[in-house]
Amino acid sequence: MGGDDLAVVTACDALLQHEQPGAYDLVVGNPPYGRVTLKAAQRATYRRSLYGHANLYGLFLDLALRRSTADGVIAFVTPTSFLSGEYFRNLRSLLVKDAPPVSLDFVSQRAGVFDDVLQETTLAVFKAGAAATHTDVHFLEVAPDRVTVQKAERAAPPEDARPWIVPRTPSSAGLAARLRTMTARLADWGYRVSTGPLVWNRFKPRLRNQPSKGTVPLVWSEAVAVDGEFSFRAARRNHAPYFVVKPDEEFLLVRKPCVLLQRTTAKEQPRRLIAAELPRAFLEEQGGAVTVENHLNMLVATVERPAVDSTVLAAFLNSAAADRAFRCISGSVAVSAYELESMPIPSAELMLKVAAAVAAGRTRADVEALCAELYGVE
Ligand SMILES: C[S@@+](CC[C@H](N)C(=O)[O-])C[C@H]1O[C@@H](n2cnc3c(N)ncnc32)[C@H](O)[C@@H]1O
Repeated sequence: MGGDDLAVVTACDALLQHEQPGAYDLVVGNPPYGRVTLKAAQRATYRRSLYGHANLYGLFLDLALRRSTADGVIAFVTPTSFLSGEYFRNLRSLLVKDAPPVSLDFVSQRAGVFDDVLQETTLAVFKAGAAATHTDVHFLEVAPDRVTVQKAERAAPPEDARPWIVPRTPSSAGLAARLRTMTARLADWGYRVSTGPLVWNRFKPRLRNQPSKGTVPLVWSEAVAVDGEFSFRAARRNHAPYFVVKPDEEFLLVRKPCVLLQRTTAKEQPRRLIAAELPRAFLEEQGGAVTVENHLNMLVATVERPAVDSTVLAAFLNSAAADRAFRCISGSVAVSAYELESMPIPSAELMLKVAAAVAAGRTRADVEALCAELYGVE
């Protein structure tokens, strides 16, 4: 058969072919995905798009950029984590600069489509060069006999490496547009987000069922109930309510009230944000220090008097409006500290109304309504 110039298909490890000459007007891919550990040389090759853990599909997107012509089109089926995940921040930065997304199509009705795929999927089209003037978002409903395409929005392309704000349901387009205009973040209210310091399976022999000298209460994720209440308990298998802490382990201790928020929620759980205040009274009762397990996020005050106090912060995070806003940042059941810190929130001044309602003991429905108003949602 013919020589190399006639080859239409090359079977190879694509990630080792990055230096092959040849540029294409169209690069189409349904790449593999999942974390990989790269050898030093390969990491160096893809360094420009890496930040922390490498994911196969991110490498393939970088490869597609290298193999596309200066005004080529890249069309990929990918998980949605690159839209917001911290590990993809350099990839987002590269895409914004070299090939912004012109359309992102989400498969909203998944029965029968990508049946074995657990992650949310998008059909993403990028246009190389700086010409992209907009990003369209569509939702695809795939039935056995037809595909219905619903257009959700046409917005300006994302501008930087921060999580891209994208509606994840057809009805969230208005909210996404509003979020892009909101400049406040949790840092402006006086909070940072970190994960609970105790990775329990590294310390199994130090779990205790009863308190004794040298133990502190261990706060597990089940302490944060779906209704936003904190209740000290260790209800799951292998969980125990106390932990033996050593004198040099101050880094494992939490001594100040903060807001606890579940890091992962079950897929069928309607809420992604499930928060409760770690009450000062509980800390005092327990001798002033507890440890918090790693399946919880902690929203910790960075200043003596945060602009929004932790009771109000917990009430806000538990509102349906905040949950909907967060879903425009993240499509995953995992709530990362990075994504939470990136979520647009109302200014602290606007939150005064919510604070007054919480202080007056108004009902959850009243607080919900106020948060909805601040986000401009029904
Ligand atoms: C999500 S699947 C898509 C498969 C294909 N598009 C189809 O519809 O059957 C990803 C494919 O990439 C292949 N793959 C994984 N790593 C690769 C690499 N380094 N170079 C080339 N192909 C690779 C896998 O074998 C798998 O077939």
